Amino acid sequence: MDLTVKIKRYNPETDTEPHWETYSVEADPMDSALSVLNHIKWNMDGTLTFRKSCAHGICGSDAMQINGENKLACSILVQDLVGSKGGTISYAPLPAAPVIKDLVIDQDSFFEKYRAVMPWLVNHTPPPERERLQSPEQHAIIEDATKCIMCGACTHSCPSTWAAPDYLGPAAMLKAYRYTFDSRDQGTEERLEVVDSKEGLWKCYTIFNCVQACPKGIDITRWLSALKRKSVTMRY
Ligand code: FES
Repeated sequence: MDLTVKIKRYNPETDTEPHWETYSVEADPMDSALSVLNHIKWNMDGTLTFRKSCAHGICGSDAMQINGENKLACSILVQDLVGSKGGTISYAPLPAAPVIKDLVIDQDSFFEKYRAVMPWLVNHTPPPERERLQSPEQHAIIEDATKCIMCGACTHSCPSTWAAPDYLGPAAMLKAYRYTFDSRDQGTEERLEVVDSKEGLWKCYTIFNCVQACPKGIDITRWLSALKRKSVTMRY
């Protein structure tokens, strides 16, 4: 099929602002949106810049805005974007982040917020001889949240992020949920001090954009609501 591919390009060395460039590409309906970008880079324009690694929806590095929605380029097929007869696909960087070049955004602030919620197990008791045990029932409480691959599609789909750059965002707070509700963790108070704040949980207005954008189908809003309830229970 014939595709018209529009890519939002930006080179900080030569451009004062981003602009759209258009490419005509022949593709198979079963090609991924990432394959289309690879084809352009390898055969048409080697200066095109984007992140990717695993190409299998695991590393989270190729989240971008495709036809106006935040998606992993490797995890969406051309036919799911334009049908089987061809059409137009647009690619832009994730919104609400500084662009380094073309589709590559600066993720420093995203990972700073991630680190702020202490995304690790806090446990002050001496480690047992083998692992710290957890029952299947205890694990079920956090299992959905453990599927997060930190691609940033959720955080960059959230109107609260667009309006308030300091907002922690759904990805970081989902990680806070994942550890706070882990039966082996003892860092609840410390972690809630970070998320129960002006730039934390209470800027989540349950808009559900994050749930729609998550390529792993995580029920993010549900888990953030559980974290809100936990923080209220701890306070009063
Ligand atoms: S390239 Fe790794 S998730 Fe898409």
